Amino acid sequence: MQQALSFIRSSREKYIEELKDYLSIPSISSDPDRMDAMVDCADHTAALLKRAGMENVKVNKTAGHPVVTGDWLHVEDSPTVLIYGHFDVQPVDPLDLWEKDPFTAHIKNDRLIARGTADDKGQLFMHIKALEAILKTTGRLPINVRFVCEGEEEIGSPSLPGFLRSNRDQLKADIAVVSDSSMLDEGMPAITYGLRGLTYLEIELIGPNRDLHSGTYGGAVANPAEILARLLAEVKDEKGRIRIPGFYDRVVDLSDDERKLLAKAPHDDGKYMADLGVDELWGEAGYTTPERASARPTFEINGIWSGFTGTGAKTVLPSRAFAKISSRLVPNQDPDEIIELTEKFFVERAPKSVKVNLTRFHGGHPVVTALDSPYIKAAELALSESFKHEVYFIREGGSIPIVADFKTILGLDTLLLGFSLPDARTHSPNENIHLPTFFTGIESLVRTWFYFVK
Ligand code: BES
Ligand code: MN
Ligand code: MN
Repeated sequence: MQQALSFIRSSREKYIEELKDYLSIPSISSDPDRMDAMVDCADHTAALLKRAGMENVKVNKTAGHPVVTGDWLHVEDSPTVLIYGHFDVQPVDPLDLWEKDPFTAHIKNDRLIARGTADDKGQLFMHIKALEAILKTTGRLPINVRFVCEGEEEIGSPSLPGFLRSNRDQLKADIAVVSDSSMLDEGMPAITYGLRGLTYLEIELIGPNRDLHSGTYGGAVANPAEILARLLAEVKDEKGRIRIPGFYDRVVDLSDDERKLLAKAPHDDGKYMADLGVDELWGEAGYTTPERASARPTFEINGIWSGFTGTGAKTVLPSRAFAKISSRLVPNQDPDEIIELTEKFFVERAPKSVKVNLTRFHGGHPVVTALDSPYIKAAELALSESFKHEVYFIREGGSIPIVADFKTILGLDTLLLGFSLPDARTHSPNENIHLPTFFTGIESLVRTWFYFVK
């Protein structure tokens, strides 16, 4: 183990250069103009795996973007770890808010800045380098590994569940490990044991058959924008409770023990507000900020538009109004059920003056994993030794839909070891990874694999 750790310490410059190359590929999975980049990025991922010493490296075609697999399976009595990461990234707009080109990584204040540094190419790269360091210095690994790298996470993983189902035998493992989440703060490592699920809908309200003169018709014809605003405002009560009937029926309430565990992770509302530039926080009454943001379900308006939004004024009564809305879910809410309940809420409440059109987008199941596993204990020890700090157990509000599928399709629990910091700006301009955390994180992964068999 020590040789691998020394190897990592002397490879830092090289890692940065290699990661910069990887980040230079604009692998935006949602952009049809980036299809070639997705193929390049899959090939590049495969090359990284091969260079690290992985065997049977394959770029698997799917109906969408490719899945890259590879393995190293040479220790009979050791556990097999399925390592998952995604090499696709979110779009980069608004481009003018980036300090430099999003696909030309640069370093500032110990941070490497580029799209994909934290979410998730940088973190997938950490796994590859940890294993490469062990193989290069000792010729073998303490564990067996199988990589599954996907290019569709940011678009809801449409192809991966099918891939898991058709390759069950080639994906047999004892545990899945995913690094696509966060630490609590610099120097404060965390193991994430819960992720929220997701439902996503677009709602369109159609009123009169054309945009109307608001002077000629205003007052006599219902305005779809106004109706939409009214309906959306009805979703939550003044205490932040969601009023969609049945929404909370399956929610598992937080136990006192769990609330105590979550409260161990330091959190400062003042700092949180200052970081966001808000003077007040708002959420469901009776819960702390970390609970609201990770262990309670939500309803959000992601976008809303209608009528005239150009410069100047135009007196118009719009024909249509739109909103993109989503809910984050917690166990045991079911995304299919919640989407039905949400649709019903809008359809039943909409007046006859508008027609309601609903379009469903991707979703995913929430997960909470058991904390009493030997793998978690091993990772906790590895993280605390590497970061020289106690490990916090947290739930996170984001979603990685495939994690629930690892359980239902492959029977695997997932260990979530995340290394992005709270200011990593994932999905935002100037996404970054903190380099000291990145290097220590690679070391902590090496330790994790050795402690898996200790
Ligand atoms: N890595 C994130 C999920 C995440 C965010 C985990 C924060 C832990 C903390 C992932 O890439 C992501 O962005 N997921 C999407 C869901 C997907 C279906 C578009 C999300 O959470 O919005
Ligand atoms: Mn991610
Ligand atoms: Mn993401």
